[in-house]
Amino acid sequence: MTSHRFAPLGPLRGTIRVPGDKSISHRALMFAGLAVGRSRITGLLEGEDVLATAAAMRSLGAVIAREDDGTWVVDGVGVGSLLEPGAALDMGNSGTSTRLLMGLVASHDLTATFVGDASLSRRPMQRVIDPLQLMGASFHASAGGTLPVMVRGAAPAVPITYRLPVASAQVKSAVLLAGLNTPGITRVIEPVPTRDHTERMLAGFGARLELGEEDGARVIAVHGEADLQPMDVVVPGDPSSAAFFMVAASIVPGSDLVIENVGLNPTRSGLVSVLRAMGADIVEHSPREVGGEPVADLRVRHAPLSGIDVDPAIAPAMIDEFPVLFVAAALAQGTTRTRGLEELRVKESDRLSTMAAALGLAGARVEEKADGLVIHGTGGEPLPGTSEGAHVATRLDHRIAMSMAVAGLMSRSGVRVDDTAPINTSFPTFMGLLAKAAAA
Ligand code: S3P
Repeated sequence: MTSHRFAPLGPLRGTIRVPGDKSISHRALMFAGLAVGRSRITGLLEGEDVLATAAAMRSLGAVIAREDDGTWVVDGVGVGSLLEPGAALDMGNSGTSTRLLMGLVASHDLTATFVGDASLSRRPMQRVIDPLQLMGASFHASAGGTLPVMVRGAAPAVPITYRLPVASAQVKSAVLLAGLNTPGITRVIEPVPTRDHTERMLAGFGARLELGEEDGARVIAVHGEADLQPMDVVVPGDPSSAAFFMVAASIVPGSDLVIENVGLNPTRSGLVSVLRAMGADIVEHSPREVGGEPVADLRVRHAPLSGIDVDPAIAPAMIDEFPVLFVAAALAQGTTRTRGLEELRVKESDRLSTMAAALGLAGARVEEKADGLVIHGTGGEPLPGTSEGAHVATRLDHRIAMSMAVAGLMSRSGVRVDDTAPINTSFPTFMGLLAKAAAA
């Protein structure tokens, strides 16, 4: 464990570029690995989670290499031709790798075992096991539907129409990926829209996909026994990584920061809307498309924030950004109320209790409810910070570590976190960019 004290650094200025989108990077490697022929990926996030996906795709037969200029070259095996891995697939901390790859192997004639770290081994896998069993795959899971999980794929699998019981892009994607090698048409009904990178990118790789609507719900249909064509993918910057800098520049007086190349897919950009509703000064420059996704450069200037009631309907579009939103709320004027956030309890950590404890330790006034946090802000006054000898427990959760780093910027005595190592799962350049923006 690498403990670290995040101290106030002064205003954040200049221009930074956050690394590639994690969700899109996982999908780029998986779909390129399923295409027949050579794909090239630029801007891939080289964080531990994505590297776990790359290693797993290699074990399943794809040939993946990184060139000196940072381009990733993938020679795919073709849908239906994945190989049985010789050893257990180690997913590390990555829920996305695990759930999407379970979908992929569920319709192939092979057996695979998935293992992960202590955090991932506590997370629920039954939500993907249920639909994939309906498609014919069989599973041996550990108690409570957790890792390690052994999957015996079905060949041929059976197409299903599956209504998502929980708003989850991972479950949606697992079913659609299983559908790629399933005869007929596999459908997912999505009552609450979640990130749509799978749909966008699969269409780019040449899968036959139909998007419709039924009684107000989105319906996504994928035609099976697909032939994916290789393509060149450009991965835009990750809005979930930019989020830490959006909040940091908003709360630290004197800040004026440009964050370049930020993905602004509407299924991901909820935090920008919520911060603006709190009074943040965020301006989009040079809106454009990168890799089939909307992107812009964001200029964020310090502004006084006010507490608000966050509409639970926006939660799926900012599901990974709540930890850092809670930090913004802790520095805002007045009270911020969030609800409808039960899903946060099954992320890399229980993000409601972990953030309530972390912010409480740093001197913020936080009430934990069953489905959200209520936070009484300081009105822009710095938080006291963690006292001598106390440290925030990050619980193997990268987003807790980075959120509390941002809290440290607006604290009197700094915020000590117990472990910064998890930051490498999603944002290996975080510490360097923070130092750079503070020095500019
Ligand atoms: C992701 C979906 C979300 C998100 C995760 C990445 C994805 O998870 O929290 O970080 O890439 O599909 P859920 O599907 O569990 O909501």
